[in-house]
Amino acid sequence: MVEISTSDALASSPFLQALAGRKPSRTPVWFMRQAGRSLPEYLKVREGIGMLESCQNAELITEITLQPVRRYGVDAAIFFSDIVLPLKAVGVDLDIKPGVGPVIANPVRTLADVEAIPDLTPEHVPYIAEAVQNLTGELAGINGGTPLIGFAGAPFTVASYLVEGGPSKEYAKTKALMFGAPDVWDALMRKIAGISGAFLEVQVRAGASAVQLFDSWAGACTPADYERHVLPYSAEVLTRIGELGVPRIHFGVNSAMLLPLMGSAGAEVVGVDWRTPLDWAITQLGDDFGVQGNLDPALVFAPTEVMLEQAGRIIETGRRAKGHIFNLGHGVIPTTDPDQLARLTEFVQSYEPAEG
Ligand code: CP3
Repeated sequence: MVEISTSDALASSPFLQALAGRKPSRTPVWFMRQAGRSLPEYLKVREGIGMLESCQNAELITEITLQPVRRYGVDAAIFFSDIVLPLKAVGVDLDIKPGVGPVIANPVRTLADVEAIPDLTPEHVPYIAEAVQNLTGELAGINGGTPLIGFAGAPFTVASYLVEGGPSKEYAKTKALMFGAPDVWDALMRKIAGISGAFLEVQVRAGASAVQLFDSWAGACTPADYERHVLPYSAEVLTRIGELGVPRIHFGVNSAMLLPLMGSAGAEVVGVDWRTPLDWAITQLGDDFGVQGNLDPALVFAPTEVMLEQAGRIIETGRRAKGHIFNLGHGVIPTTDPDQLARLTEFVQSYEPAEG
């Protein structure tokens, strides 16, 4: 008997097949923010331990990353961390406030502020490589081999926290810098591209099978501004990972107008948010890119049959794309009933295509 090595088993997983633009035997499924507050087992292990502290503990990272894989049997694990963790690791004074998000003590506004942020080296994040190694070992034995997705924040989204000092609706200070101080903007975006790129590279070299670059708030930019002031820096990150031979997913919220640009920044698959009709997104992206998405995360609060009917439509539509990875169109809402996600996973994984 020929023994199939772990890497062969992983390569033939529906998730990596879809990322490679092939037609897997069934549509793969995972959920953005699958590891986190909607799971009672997550709340239990996090009791009394801060978010950033959890993200710096290899044992906790490993446990929390595995929780949704054990519970749902999803087709990929996403590494438990946060887009601002690398900033914390290089010494930026920040916290993640429950119910709020990342808060920065001293927002970045000048060239001197940017230059004061150190570049990230693997020595800043020893617990990341350790956790990835633990995880790839464990995941190899789950459901015949479950791939691990590494991730980082894209420069625009991370910059928005650094410049605003916290979450924002209008990104007024971020855009003031982008339009009014191009040299500071360029230095800041290069700095973050280096940090996010290095953070992803650590995950990939330790064994992550794919990456997702989260540019959650890029939809705040017009296509022209995105192309000029954002895309080149995201492309730097994605190119660095592409050179390592690892497939890339690029995701943003409210990104309908940006989809082809986000693909051209250097991704195999473009994440589609829930507001954008999937068939329209596929047409926009053409034959060169796969798609990921895009069930409205609020549909888990609808009756199960309503949620599943919509999921079925998304699976059917996704068959027209170069490759389709089923996901929500943004992260799991914290009050989501895990049993609904279990039913959704089961439905996607056992879906029988309609006739004809
Ligand atoms: O997807 C996963 O399960 C992996 C883990 C993950 C987290 N954050 C853990 C987390 C991922 C991929 C992220 C990415 C992230 N972080 C993004 C991009 C994705 C997106 O949702 O658009 C953004 C914008 C952030 C910044 C951030 N961190 C926000 C907005 C929040 C939520 C604040 C809140 O409490 O409402 C966080 C905190 C955070 N990141 C939590 C988790 C599990 C909750 C913290 C907790 O449990 O105390």
